[in-house]
Amino acid sequence: MRTTLKIVLPLIVSVAIVSLLFAAYQVRSEKRILRNDLSRRAEILAESLQDSVERLLDRGQEKGLQRLVERYGQREHLKGIVVYDASGMVLAITPGLRPSFLLRPSAASRATKEDRGTGEFQSAELTLALRESDRVPLHVYALPLHRGGEVVGSLVLVHDTSYIDTQVGHTLRDSLLNAGVQTLLITGLALILVRWTFTGPLTRTANWLRTVRTGQPNSPSALPQGEIMEQLHHEVTHLAKDLHTARAAAEEEARLRDSHASLWTAERLRISVRNKLQEKPLFVVSNREPYMHVFNGGKSIKTIVPASGVVTALEPVLLACNGTWIANGSGNADREVVDAHDRLRVPPDHPSYTLRRVWLTDEEDKGYYEGFSNEGLWPLCHIAHTRPIFRPEDWLQYQKINQRFTDVVLQEMEDAESPILLAQDYHLALLPRMVKEARPDARIATFWHIPWPNPEVFGICPWQRELIDGLLGADLIGFHIQSHCNNFLETVDRALEALTEWDRFAVNRQGHVTRVRPYPISVAFAENPRATAGDFANAGALRAALCEEMGIEASLLGVGVDRVDYTKGILERFRALERFFELYPNYQQRFSFVQIGAPSRTDIERYKNFLEEVSTEAERINTRFQTPRWKPIVFRKKHHSHEEISCFYRAASFCMVTSLHDGMNLVAKEFVASREDERGVLILSTFAGAAHELSDALLVNPYDVSQLARAIHRALEMPEHEQTTRMQRMRHTVREHNVYRWAAHLLSDLTEIRIELPERAEAQHAP
Ligand code: G6P
Repeated sequence: MRTTLKIVLPLIVSVAIVSLLFAAYQVRSEKRILRNDLSRRAEILAESLQDSVERLLDRGQEKGLQRLVERYGQREHLKGIVVYDASGMVLAITPGLRPSFLLRPSAASRATKEDRGTGEFQSAELTLALRESDRVPLHVYALPLHRGGEVVGSLVLVHDTSYIDTQVGHTLRDSLLNAGVQTLLITGLALILVRWTFTGPLTRTANWLRTVRTGQPNSPSALPQGEIMEQLHHEVTHLAKDLHTARAAAEEEARLRDSHASLWTAERLRISVRNKLQEKPLFVVSNREPYMHVFNGGKSIKTIVPASGVVTALEPVLLACNGTWIANGSGNADREVVDAHDRLRVPPDHPSYTLRRVWLTDEEDKGYYEGFSNEGLWPLCHIAHTRPIFRPEDWLQYQKINQRFTDVVLQEMEDAESPILLAQDYHLALLPRMVKEARPDARIATFWHIPWPNPEVFGICPWQRELIDGLLGADLIGFHIQSHCNNFLETVDRALEALTEWDRFAVNRQGHVTRVRPYPISVAFAENPRATAGDFANAGALRAALCEEMGIEASLLGVGVDRVDYTKGILERFRALERFFELYPNYQQRFSFVQIGAPSRTDIERYKNFLEEVSTEAERINTRFQTPRWKPIVFRKKHHSHEEISCFYRAASFCMVTSLHDGMNLVAKEFVASREDERGVLILSTFAGAAHELSDALLVNPYDVSQLARAIHRALEMPEHEQTTRMQRMRHTVREHNVYRWAAHLLSDLTEIRIELPERAEAQHAP
């Protein structure tokens, strides 16, 4: 109430003052108008009588004069008329003016003297009336009278002006009434508005916050909406989310302590990294950025999280550890949102770390990214039978851009002592050596997110030595699985004069030792300890809603989520679905497969064609089986957010990962992590790194279409208890081997490496 008064009271005072001032102004102008009107009327009447009076005067007809003043002296508000001679003697007078006007008033003296009409207002007190009752406010107008050009007297008109005061009094009363009503109305409205816009919503927000604080269930929609409250709504929701996360982390920590479990969590990683790094900042460099900004139609800008394994894996680490992520600014609106140093804080909703963007021209991107990285190294490392293309001009761009990334990394590290750098992937193979040469004190790990093939295959690359030498600038090289480490060491053995130490999986090149280790990458695995059976009952409703949105009728769904890439085995998957519907026709019109396909690298001919092939193949199969209300394959050819994908994961009976070759494949782990209901089946290619950990999936050879079709059937027919047993085991693996463990092991191994001082000194003084 006090707050409302504080807002409303000044309003009442100011509205009242303004209304009163306005009332005063109205009264004054009303009075002025009435007086002017009276003066004018007196003047006109006097002038119209002047001639007659002068004539009578001229003829000396005093009786005629008296009749005239008596006849005309009876008009509205006119109290009377007096005629004086030049000396001020009364020649004729309306009886009502006696005796007050027997004496010539000052206006008449002035009119006679100055020979012009003169008017004046007299207040009641100043009138010369003897009786109290005759004392009224008056207006006296005098006009000189002439004979032969000489002033011989004056004609005086006396008006009673008390009607003016009465009228002004009424106006004053009306204005005050008006002012009062206005003040009341505005105050009332203000009160309602204050309650409606502020007090009410704030009270509701406070109540909502109380439910958050006391841990009662609530929903963000219970918060007041509306433009004014939007910012508060936004902040409060984040605050609640943070509180919820902190509480969940604390609960989880307590639970883990209680069960003596060694599970890695974001919180544990943050603390471990803080201890290990001793407050030193963490730097990550990759080609792909975690957030892209793109123009959304007109001038508005939207944020996209790219479909990328690197982003999925590293974002939780950066969120846990802060630090700086250096990456290529590839969104068409990326430049609009950075500061003068090409930096911005991300994630947009909850800034927790710095993203530093590196700019590339179209030509550079074509040579370094499309050409060397994705037409050369990508097919080289993935045995998917697409021929790698190595062009010298692409190689030049690759070297140039690795140097550019290096320069930016060095700039960002400038003030950091013994910095820690995590370099990522095949786009930046030369960078570890470049950074190490400039900053021998930096601890560098590089992680290769794709497979490393055997030495014969890698030997196809004309610049294999340079690439390996670049990687060996790192202190630690990580691969997903042991066989990639083995392949790498064998490749080094064949290609370089370096000492490969098989016993401790290391390479000694000119005195610098690089360790090579497997670190199976993973996902965050957000545990929801409060999830109840009721939450899972929604899977059916979710499936129905998705089917409705897709315009199909199906009681069972399968899902595949991939960048549209020829290594993912999407065509093999579709052919297996076709075979499945041939073998098991009773699933027609009951089961649909949803393929979420984010178009990827579409400026590369092979990818553009592949996207076409996938669409055509889906259409071909659909044409063969579809009915007006059902189709076997729904190909959703667009980028989907994590939230959208998660809905499909939870609604599907199975998820299919049929990579022809894959470093790890995080889709398999994301699917498992999202199945809190412990249901659903994973069909997984044996050629994906994930197959090494997820042996409870239905493991398949994607080239064997019949086997795939049978696996689909088995997945759809699998009894619930078997689904649960398999899913529980897979969830246990992903929970234990989550991305925090990946980062913790990588960082822990990196920080434990001793960086030899002589090497540092030598490197510093190297020419
Ligand atoms: C693979 C690579 C990642 C890359 C991702 C997406 O997973 O290992 O480094 O981020 O593909 O590819 P893109 O070319 O879109 O970055």
